[in-house]
Amino acid sequence: MDIPQYVTYDDFAQVYDRYLAKKSLKVIPLLQQLCLSELPTGAKILDLCCGSGHIAKKLTELGFQVTGIDSSAEMLVLARKNADHVDFKLDDARTFNIPNLFDLVISMSDSLNHIMKKEELDFVFKNVYNSLRDGGTFIFDLTMEDGYQRNWKGYQSNIIDDSIVCAIATSYESPDKVGKFHATIFNRNDEWKRTDVTLYQRCYSRDELVSGLERAGFVDIDVYDAKKDFNIKAEGKNIFVTKKYVDWVK
Ligand SMILES: C[S@@+](CC[C@H](N)C(=O)[O-])C[C@H]1O[C@@H](n2cnc3c(N)ncnc32)[C@H](O)[C@@H]1O
Repeated sequence: MDIPQYVTYDDFAQVYDRYLAKKSLKVIPLLQQLCLSELPTGAKILDLCCGSGHIAKKLTELGFQVTGIDSSAEMLVLARKNADHVDFKLDDARTFNIPNLFDLVISMSDSLNHIMKKEELDFVFKNVYNSLRDGGTFIFDLTMEDGYQRNWKGYQSNIIDDSIVCAIATSYESPDKVGKFHATIFNRNDEWKRTDVTLYQRCYSRDELVSGLERAGFVDIDVYDAKKDFNIKAEGKNIFVTKKYVDWVK
């Protein structure tokens, strides 16, 4: 399969790690509630699209054996600094192949919204399915139509400190279901240097996601609302929880 690796986060890695990544830790209590509390110490967890490793680090502190996969080399440089007990691998969610190893796979903070084609999301679901042990759990969150409508149309934000100035603007095109996140970053080393990064996201419907998971073989699919069900401050975000089928006859 010839899919070029997704590297767009390389130029956004420093800003993400410094200003945004720690917000991802708010999912730890919900992961505890949904799955971690039932896993034995030492259980194997894959953090898919792990970014700069903050969730992975927390999971190792809780006693789990964690692998992190991300396709951005720059994100992984930071991840290795942030979490030294995690096995980080540079790989793409659409093409990775680790058979029958994990008790739990997670992919948080809208990571799978970056998969822009339905066929490619099917590859991700199939790869995750293959990477799980029988009965293993897959948990991911995604921004849904409501979230893009509320939060992505005309949102602007600025980060200003001594060595980084970053202006962020987002937009969302409903007919195409594509969100655009543009960051203009000025970074000071010896002198100020400008970098422009555009990250695209794709909005999927609940039906598309559930049928994609079923096509991959997943069973027991539950869909939660992050705000209503877990009191997480996020509008229009759903949490999907599903399991790899156990073939008792094998
Ligand atoms: C919003 S960040 C989330 C990082 C981390 N999950 C967290 O919660 O902080 C999205 C991450 O997904 C990664 N990513 C996007 N598409 C990917 C792909 N096809 N394969 C692997 N990683 C990918 C990016 O490089 C980036 O690090």
